[in-house]
Amino acid sequence: MFGFGQLIDILRKDPKKIVFTEGSDPRILEASSRLLASNFLRPILIGVPDKIYEAAEESGFNIRGSEIIDPNSFSDIDKMVTEFCEIRKHKGVTEEQARKYLSHKNYFGTMLVKMGYADSLLGGATYSTADTVRPALQLIKTRPGNTIVSSCFILVRPRATGENEVLAMGDCSINIKPNEEQLVEIAEEIIRCARIFGIDPKVAFLSYSTKGSGAGDDVDKMRNAAQKTKLRNPSVPIDGELQFDAAVAPSVATKKAPGSEVAGHANTFIFPDINAGNIGYKIAQRMGNFEAYGPILLGLNSPINDLSRGCTASEVYSMAIITAALSSVSK
Ligand SMILES: CC(C)(COP(=O)(O)OP(=O)(O)OC[C@H]1O[C@@H](n2cnc3c(N)ncnc32)[C@H](O)[C@@H]1OP(=O)(O)O)[C@@H](O)C(=O)NCCC(=O)NCCS
Repeated sequence: MFGFGQLIDILRKDPKKIVFTEGSDPRILEASSRLLASNFLRPILIGVPDKIYEAAEESGFNIRGSEIIDPNSFSDIDKMVTEFCEIRKHKGVTEEQARKYLSHKNYFGTMLVKMGYADSLLGGATYSTADTVRPALQLIKTRPGNTIVSSCFILVRPRATGENEVLAMGDCSINIKPNEEQLVEIAEEIIRCARIFGIDPKVAFLSYSTKGSGAGDDVDKMRNAAQKTKLRNPSVPIDGELQFDAAVAPSVATKKAPGSEVAGHANTFIFPDINAGNIGYKIAQRMGNFEAYGPILLGLNSPINDLSRGCTASEVYSMAIITAALSSVSK
């Protein structure tokens, strides 16, 4: 069952470095001071050292021992520019354009990961999702065998018994309108991610229809994607198309999807598009009292994750642990 203890144990055995693009943000400074005190994950803060130390002093956080890298005085910048141009040569990026991109902390930080100065990156405390994710798509790129980067949220709520209820949902953040083949890839990535967080996946492909009760292209898309995913992963309980009530409520499942190995007990949810996914996880978070961890980006060569601009220091700390631990388990 999901707990940060397991992820921290992974990091204690295999300590990692994580880049924070927004080095002087008070929430990043607070999370970094906690990480430095616990000694299992080394933060790299991007920014001008004097400004970062000043911001840390003003907000009262001790960041002594953290590495600070200033893009303006980075000793390997020429090497970084050359590598940037090489990666983006299919777009005809010039040296001058590369230097301009690298003056932005999101591109600079992503190149630190690409070049091996760090294992992972967490950004987005002030950048939009698109601005955090785009450099990762362009520079870190998809893992061999993957065609897209997608994302997953892990939702956690304590049960009365003391155990946590843990769910996986996606893609709520990246692919705006995935097609059938992309949904299969998204589902397989989410199944992998769910297992890392201790979930034994029972996968529902969600729709406004259950087993043919409604009709339309989107219904066909979810049904076909569920069938293809099941064919490729016969030992995993997978079903669809299912409405959300049929997926989670046993009393509805017996009426709408009798005999389903998933209906009534689903814990891993594949949404038809980003509208449904983004709205869906936020309903669980805001009205269902689940804590939401993510978006966790899936299918990249190295872990890069995005924070919500409304994040708290505690969320930064949790996401840093998740992001860094993924660089150990996804090897
Ligand atoms: C992810 C996102 C930013 C990419 O959009 P974009 O910048 O317009 O992307 P582009 O089409 O210009 O592609 C940029 C590069 O990323 C690649 N790319 C785009 N989407 C990709 C995906 N899902 N997986 C892998 N690579 C992808 C492209 O192939 C392209 O590579 P290239 O420059 O080497 O040719 C966009 O899909 C998006 O805005 N998604 C929604 C984000 C959001 O608002 N989420 C809600 C809040 S959490």
